Parts: sequence; structure tokens; C-alpha cells
Amino acid sequence: NEIYLHGLEGRHPPFTTDLTALEASARERLAPEPYWYVAGSAGSGATDRANREAFDRYRLVPRMLTGATERDLRTTVLGQELPAPVLLAPVGVQSIVHPDGELATARAAAGTGLTTVLSTASSHTLEEVAEANGDGSRWFQLYWPNDDDVCASILRRARGAGYRTLVVTLDTWTLAWRPHDLDHAYLPFIRGVGTAIAFSDPAFRAGLAAPPEEDLTSAVLRWVPMFTGTDRTWDRLPFLREHWDGPIVLKGVQHPDDARRAVDAGMDGVVVSNHGGRQVDGAVASLDALPRIAEAVGDRTEILFDSGVRTGADVLKALALGAKAVLLGRPYVYGLAHGGEDGVRHVLRGLLADLTLTLGLTGHSSPAELSPDDLWHGR
Ligand code: FNR
Repeated sequence: NEIYLHGLEGRHPPFTTDLTALEASARERLAPEPYWYVAGSAGSGATDRANREAFDRYRLVPRMLTGATERDLRTTVLGQELPAPVLLAPVGVQSIVHPDGELATARAAAGTGLTTVLSTASSHTLEEVAEANGDGSRWFQLYWPNDDDVCASILRRARGAGYRTLVVTLDTWTLAWRPHDLDHAYLPFIRGVGTAIAFSDPAFRAGLAAPPEEDLTSAVLRWVPMFTGTDRTWDRLPFLREHWDGPIVLKGVQHPDDARRAVDAGMDGVVVSNHGGRQVDGAVASLDALPRIAEAVGDRTEILFDSGVRTGADVLKALALGAKAVLLGRPYVYGLAHGGEDGVRHVLRGLLADLTLTLGLTGHSSPAELSPDDLWHGR
């Protein structure tokens, strides 16, 4: 309605409302290194493409005359009421696309009521992001460092700064073969922008001969093996439970046996994700992994989903296949590139409006009503 009313005054939306087209316009705005860091994926890009193709293979089957004029997008995830089944996926080094980076994202999330998941590889400290997020809802994503003291210290800080749920990313214990980033010599990282949380950490600093402000190279050389080559295995999960007194979910689960293992280990949920196709090139599309995982553990745990979500219809398809909520990745980062906090807000509000319209037009009043019966998947 707001867009129509503005149109009467000759005003246009700040940039496209088509989230599938945002990538192309971001390319015109960003330098090649940050653009390709965000848009690129592992290897030949096969899994990134498969993520989108899987959404195209499922079709919604709308129902008529159901009186879905009033919709309620609210849902409860891990004991927390969310205004909609959408969260902002953890994305590191956001200041490479806009100087405000994660601060702008945290403000936009708070402004729309959505939960932001802050990456360990944030370009701002977790305390700064918490302050920007204010009364908003925030979760913390952990890249599990090799050093237990650093890990415990970061978790303590995150709880103290009001991060509610811990998202432990399993699929990026080391970085995959990403040709675009290799071709650009990983310049965004060499500038040390994804290290704010570790470099501000007392336990991390205690292991350095000189603080990072005085000797950046030594600090980066300590950071890299600690965070991008971790050796953690299933038997170490109790350590996280010991150091985190809120819900814990494991992100990057694609096999039903791993989902079962997570539940058996007492985890509170899983995020079915292939990291937006950025890790295993040729891996199964995340949406194709979802039904098997829902069948394996759907009645025992909370299932979240990401990789490839671009439209309201995509959200509904993931919910119909067993997800409780989805995480949005690249699109909001392109919003950030286009206009900082306002850009992120434009993307989030657009997705929510699309979601509520498509929910209603398919004949539903609440996300909880969706089931596999609402999908067509065949010839
Ligand atoms: C990511 N992702 C990610 N995940 C994570 O757990 N920690 C992180 O620091 C990052 N960093 C990151 C940077 C960039 C530029 C991208 C695009 C992605 C993965 C992210 O959380 C999510 O799984 C995917 O982005 C989802 O796929 P789509 O929505 O981008 O297709």
C-alpha cells in the first residue's frame, strides 16, 4: 500500500523490489572483490544454482474461498515468538559492502522486528552490534575456534550482550575452494575485517605478544588457524552446552543421520543449509535435503532452513516441507550494499509483504497451515 501511495506522488521504491534481480544491480555498485565474495560460491557454482532450481521444481497449489483476508505471520521458534518465520542469516565481513556493516543490519532487523544472527566473522564487535540492535532480537553464530578459552570467552560475551540462541556452523570448519575469492586473493580478509570479535576478546589477546593494533600480521596469523581450520567433532558438543545456557542449533546439516545425531546429542534444533552453495560444490540442493530431515527428526526438534530463499513463495515452500522458519542470506546483503540500514529494511519489508500476500493468495491465514499437500512436485 505504501508503494502505491508513494506512486501517486510520483515516488519510486529506492531500488528494485525483485529480490532475484538485486544481485545484478549490486554488481553495478560494488567493486569486484566484495561483489564476488558475496555473490560467488564454491567451485563451478553447481550447488548455488541447484538451490534455486529446487525451489523452481516445487509449485504451490493455491486454495480458494478460504477467507484468508486476515493473516498472522507469527510463529514460535525455540520458545521465542517471532513476528514472521524469517530471520537474517549470519553473514560475515559485512563492512566490505557498506561501512556500517552489521550495525546497519542490526538496526534494520530491530526496526522490522526480525531476528538478526550475528556472525563470528563480524566486522564490528558483538557488543557494538548488540547496542545497535537495542531491544531487538539477536542470536549469535559461532565459528567454533580451536582454542577452548577463546571459545568460552566469546560465548560469555555473547550471552552477556543479550544474544539469545547459539547457532553453531558446522559446514565451514575450513573454507572451500572458491575460485572468485582465490582469483581476488581474498583481499577482503587480508584487510582483516572479519576479526573484530576475536581481536577484541581478552582471551584471544592474552595469547598475543603485542595487541592487534600494534602488530596486525601476528594477530591475523593467530586468528586464521584458530577459526578457519577447526578440528571439532561430535564428542565436543557438551563443551558448548556447558558454556551456553540458551538454545543451541547446528547449522549446515544436510544428512538425516546428522540431524538425528544432533537431536541425540541434546541440541535444540538444526539449520538445514549448504551455506548458500559456498562450501561443497555439487552438494545436494538444500531444499531437496529438507524433506528427508523433516521425516527423520521433524517431530523431535526445530528445523530451520536456508540457501536460495528469495521470495515469499520460497518461504512457503520451505515451511510446507517441514521448516519452522527460514534464514535469508545474500538478498539483505545486497540491500546493505544499495543503501545501508534503509536498504536492508527495504529488502526485509518487501519480503514480508510478498510473504503475507502469497500466504493469503494460496488460501492460508497462518504459516502453520502449510503442509506437503500444498505443493505440486512432479510432471
Ligand atoms: C555467508 N554465510 C555465513 N554463514 C555463517 O554461518 N557464518 C558466516 O560468517 C557466513 N558468512 C557468509 C558470508 C556471505 C557473503 C554469504 C553470502 C553467506 C552463509 C549464510 O549464513 C547462509 O547460509 C547463506 O547465505 C544462505 O544462502 P542464500 O540465502 O545466500 O542463498
